[in-house]
Amino acid sequence: MKRILLLIVISISLLTISGCNKKEPLNSNIDNTSKEKISSIVLYFSVTNNTKRIANLISEETNSDLIEIIPKEKYTDKDINYNDNDSRANKEQNNPNIRPKIENKLDLSQYDTIYLGYPIWWGTVPKIIYTLLDNYDLTSKKIVLFCTSGSTGIETSVNDLKKYNNKLNIIDSKRFSANTSSKEIKEWIEEQNLPKGEKSMMTNQIKVLIDNKEYNLTLEDNETAKSFIKLLPKEFNMRELNGNEKYIYLDNPLPTNEYNPKKINKGDIMLYGNDCLVIFYESFDTNYRYTKIGHIDSLDNLENKNITVRFEK
Ligand SMILES: Cc1cc2nc3c(=O)[nH]c(=O)nc-3n(C[C@H](O)[C@H](O)[C@H](O)COP(=O)(O)O)c2cc1C
Repeated sequence: MKRILLLIVISISLLTISGCNKKEPLNSNIDNTSKEKISSIVLYFSVTNNTKRIANLISEETNSDLIEIIPKEKYTDKDINYNDNDSRANKEQNNPNIRPKIENKLDLSQYDTIYLGYPIWWGTVPKIIYTLLDNYDLTSKKIVLFCTSGSTGIETSVNDLKKYNNKLNIIDSKRFSANTSSKEIKEWIEEQNLPKGEKSMMTNQIKVLIDNKEYNLTLEDNETAKSFIKLLPKEFNMRELNGNEKYIYLDNPLPTNEYNPKKINKGDIMLYGNDCLVIFYESFDTNYRYTKIGHIDSLDNLENKNITVRFEK
C-alpha cells in the first residue's frame, strides 16, 4: 500500500514538474502568417498606353490600387511628336519652369508605398511628374519608380527626381520595354521583395460597353462617382435626347455636388439633378448645372437613337 501511495505521489509530482516546466513556444501569441499591413498604389502617367499596361500588371501582381495621373489638357498625337521642336512635349521638356496641370485630385494618405510610373521623355521624366511632386508630399512614402522607353534607361530620371527633392525615399527603380511580359514583372517584384498591398478596389478606370463596343471610362474622384461605382456592374437602356445626349433615371438618388461646367465635352458622364445619368456624345457650351461622374475616352459618334450601356466594375 505504501509503495502504491509513493508511486502516486511521485507520478503527481512528475506531472506537476513537467507542467511547470512546459515552455510556451516563444512568441506563441504572434500569428506568424499575418504580415505587416501595407497599402500600396500604382500611380502612373501614360500617353500612348505603354506605361499604362505595365502599371496594370504591377497593380495586379502587387495587389495595389491603380490611379492614372490625368493631365488637365490631354496630349494629342501632335503634342507628343518628338521630331517637331515646337511640339508641346518638346517645349515642356526644354522649359525648366513648365508644370503641366493635373486634372484629378489624388488622395494618397492611406498608402505607404507608391509605385510611380512614367514614359521617358528626352532621357528623363515628363514635367507632369514634377507637378505631382509640387502638389503632393511623398517624402513619407516608399517610392518604387518604373518607366517605359524606346531604349533609354531609368537612371537619369531617378537622379533628376532625387535632385528635385532629395527627401524622396526611392527604394527601387526599373525600366521596362513596351512589351515586357507579366512573368518578367512578377520576377522583378519577387527578386527585389517589393512591397505588396491590400487592394481597396480604388481605381478610376472602368470598362463601358456601348451597344457592345468597349470604351474606357475615367471616373472623377468624388462621392458621386464612388456611389455610382457601388451600383456596378449594371446595364442601362439609355434614351436619346436633343441629338447630343443619352439619359436614364436611376432607381435611387446619388450624392451631388453640382456646378456649371460651362462646356460639355463629348464623352462626359454627368449626373443631372440627383438621379438622371447622362452621357454626352457631342461637345457644346452649357448653362446647366451637373455633377461630373467621369469621362469616356475616344467616344465614337453615336447615332441619334436609344442605346444599351453596360458599366463593368
Ligand atoms: C516627347 C517624347 C520623348 C521621348 N524621349 C525618349 C527618350 O529620350 N528615350 C527613349 O528611349 N524613348 C523616348 N520616347 C519614347 C517613350 O519613352 C516610349 O514610347 C514610352 O513607352 C511611351 O510611354 P506611354 O505609352 O506610356 O506614353 C519619347 C517619347 C516622347 C513622346
